[in-house]
Amino acid sequence: PLVNTREMFKKAYEGGYAIGAFNVNNMEIVQGITEACKELQAPVILQVSAGARKYANHTYLTKLVEAAVEETGVPIALHLDHGNSFELCKSCIDGGFTSVMFDGSHLPYEENVAVAKQVADYAHQFDVTVEAELGQLAGIEDDVKVDADKASFTDPAQVQDFVTRTGVDSLAIAIGTSHGAYKFKPGQKPQLRFDILEEVSQRLPGFPIVLHGASSVVPEFVEMINQYGGAMPDAIGIPEEMLLQASKMAVCKINVDSDLRLAMTAAVRKYLWENPSHFDPRQYLAPARDAIREMVKHKINNVLGCAGKA
Ligand code: G3H
Ligand code: 13P
Ligand code: ZN
Repeated sequence: PLVNTREMFKKAYEGGYAIGAFNVNNMEIVQGITEACKELQAPVILQVSAGARKYANHTYLTKLVEAAVEETGVPIALHLDHGNSFELCKSCIDGGFTSVMFDGSHLPYEENVAVAKQVADYAHQFDVTVEAELGQLAGIEDDVKVDADKASFTDPAQVQDFVTRTGVDSLAIAIGTSHGAYKFKPGQKPQLRFDILEEVSQRLPGFPIVLHGASSVVPEFVEMINQYGGAMPDAIGIPEEMLLQASKMAVCKINVDSDLRLAMTAAVRKYLWENPSHFDPRQYLAPARDAIREMVKHKINNVLGCAGKA
């Protein structure tokens, strides 16, 4: 069956590794990710944004993920990514999700606390785990765009009060990652505030921390996209060694969406470029699925460290 994230995070924290949380919105993406997890016996979180749920429909997505549970046998959590209201979180909990994020990071602190607590109180009745967020990432998620100068790092002085008062099970923090494929300006040296992560973990001993906006923006895929008719100059992500360092610290969940999109788009562009007369979607979606599987395997082995932890 589907599982919540409690046991996954406990083991990940103690073992010094992280669980991959991958955004899904169609069959090939679900299959590519979970084939990798089966091969490497890795637990995984499949997450659905409000936009993905609108695109693919709640029922289709839950059935696809249930199929992956049956086909792979590895522990899978089905998680709502960036829920922006109690109602959306409740709808996903009622509809079979095992984990939800309430993202009140754009709200005034007291409102964030109030709704996060409401979500946690409701979710825990059904053994559903809850993630919340403090601090603001830059970048684009759904239709919200936060400019780099409006982003703000998490204030470590707030985390204990927030977690105690809300009862949430994990906390996403802002330490310099951002959503999307353009995380740093050209020429800018990628940097994360590991000092903030360290201080947060000292104030919350044993408590699972989440990193959003944690795609590497795999350079090979960006190159392929540009080579086969795309235009993504200056796409740049978080270096793998920084993510590996975070996963050895208190970070138990690493969110990846952009790398899936890049893998899929690179493979489809290459295939169609090389086979201009082909028009069967299976012909170009099969290499897209393969690219996702290999990318996820690489992450499990080199960034997350969760191989063999299923
Ligand atoms: O946090 C953002 C994720 O990449 C989800 O993106 O809202 O466009 O589905 P989306
Ligand atoms: P990326 O855009 O870095 O893949 O981040 C995804 C994410 O944080 C989903 O919540
Ligand atoms: Zn996110």
